Amino acid sequence: MKDVKIVATDFAVPEHIVTNDDLSKIMDTSDKWIVKRTGIKRRHISQKENTSDLATQVAMGLLKKSGVSAQDIDLIIVATMSPDNMTPATAAIVQGKIGAVNSVCFDISAACSGFSYAASLARGMMLTNHLQHAIVIGAEVLSKLLDWTDRSTAVLFGDGAGGVLLEQNNTKHFLGQSLRTFGNKGDRLVAGHLGVTDDVLKNKRKLSAFTMNGQEVYRFATHEVPRSILKACSDAQIELEQIDHFLLHQANSRIIAQVAKKLKQPLNKFAIDIDEYGNTAAASEAILLAEMMQKDEIKPDEIIALSGFGGGLTTATLIIKY
Ligand code: ACO
Repeated sequence: MKDVKIVATDFAVPEHIVTNDDLSKIMDTSDKWIVKRTGIKRRHISQKENTSDLATQVAMGLLKKSGVSAQDIDLIIVATMSPDNMTPATAAIVQGKIGAVNSVCFDISAACSGFSYAASLARGMMLTNHLQHAIVIGAEVLSKLLDWTDRSTAVLFGDGAGGVLLEQNNTKHFLGQSLRTFGNKGDRLVAGHLGVTDDVLKNKRKLSAFTMNGQEVYRFATHEVPRSILKACSDAQIELEQIDHFLLHQANSRIIAQVAKKLKQPLNKFAIDIDEYGNTAAASEAILLAEMMQKDEIKPDEIIALSGFGGGLTTATLIIKY
C-alpha cells in the first residue's frame, strides 16, 4: 500500500533567550505567575532572523539529514501565522534559498494546528500526484505580532521553526487523522488583523497585535483536544493505549495535563518542551518531534499522536506509526 514516511526531522530557534525574569522587568508579571499558569520558563526571541530564515535553516537541515538533494524535492509547504510577507509565500522564499527548483511551494494558515494540517495536505498531494519528496515546516516569528505591553499575551509566545521531510513508500505510516475547524469561534484568538479604513488614501495601514480570550481558548482546548485524539484513533482503528507518545501543541502545560487526565493516559506519555520555547504556534509540534528524534526518544514502529489546536479555532490530530 502506498503511503508517506517521515525520513528526517529538524528544528531551529533563535539564539537569543528571554527569561520570565527579563519580562518582569518590562511588565507587571513574575516568573512565579508564568511558571504556575503556563509551565513556560523562557522563550527564544528573534533579533535578526525572519520566519523564512528559520524555515530555511530547517529545510537545509532536513536535506542534510536525509541525503535527499534540493532538486529532488517536489513540494514545500510552510504553515505559519507570522510570514515575512503576504506575498511571496514563506515556502517560496525557502525554495529560492535552497534551490529546490522542481518543487511547488505555498504557505497555509491554520495557526497552532498548521503543522498537522500541512502534513496531512502534503501526504494527500503526494499520494494523488505521485510526488516522491515533500518538505513540511511550521515556522513562526510571533514576537513581531505581539504587543509587548500586554502581559496577558506577551509572556506566552516564542519564535522557532520545525519540520519534516516526507518520502513516498510502500508501508502504511499515517494511520488516521481528525482535522476540524470552528470558524464561529474565530474571534477568540486574532492576530494581524488588516482593517479597511476610509483613511486608506492617507496611508494609514494598520496591522493589529495578538488578542486572545485565554480562558475560552483554554476551555476549548481541554474539551476539543481529547475529542480530536479519540476521533483520530477511531479513524486509525487503534485504541488510545496503543499510542506511545502524545505530542500536543505546546500552549500551556496545564492544558496538556488536563488532556492526559481526560483521556486517562499517564502524563509521562505526553512530551513537554514549553518550558524552553513557550508557545511557538505552528512550529511547536514539529520542534517537539525533532527534539525527541534527536534524543532517540521515539523508536521504530512506535505510534505517535501529533495534536494541534488554536486559532481558527482549529484542532488537528494525526496518528503516525514510525
Ligand atoms: N502576569 C501576572 N498576572 C497576569 C498575567 C501575567 N502575565 N496575565 C494575566 N494576569 C492576571 C490577570 O490580570 C488576572 O488578574 P485578576 O485576577 O486580578 O483579574 C489573573 O492573572 C488571572 O488571569 P486569567 O486570564 O484568569 O489567568 P488564567 O489562569 O486563565 O491563565 C492563560 C491565562 C495562561 C492565558 C490561560 O488562560 C491559557 O493558557 N489559555 C489558553 C491559551 C492557549 O491555549 N492558546 C493556544 C492557542 S495560541 C495560537 O493558536 C496561536
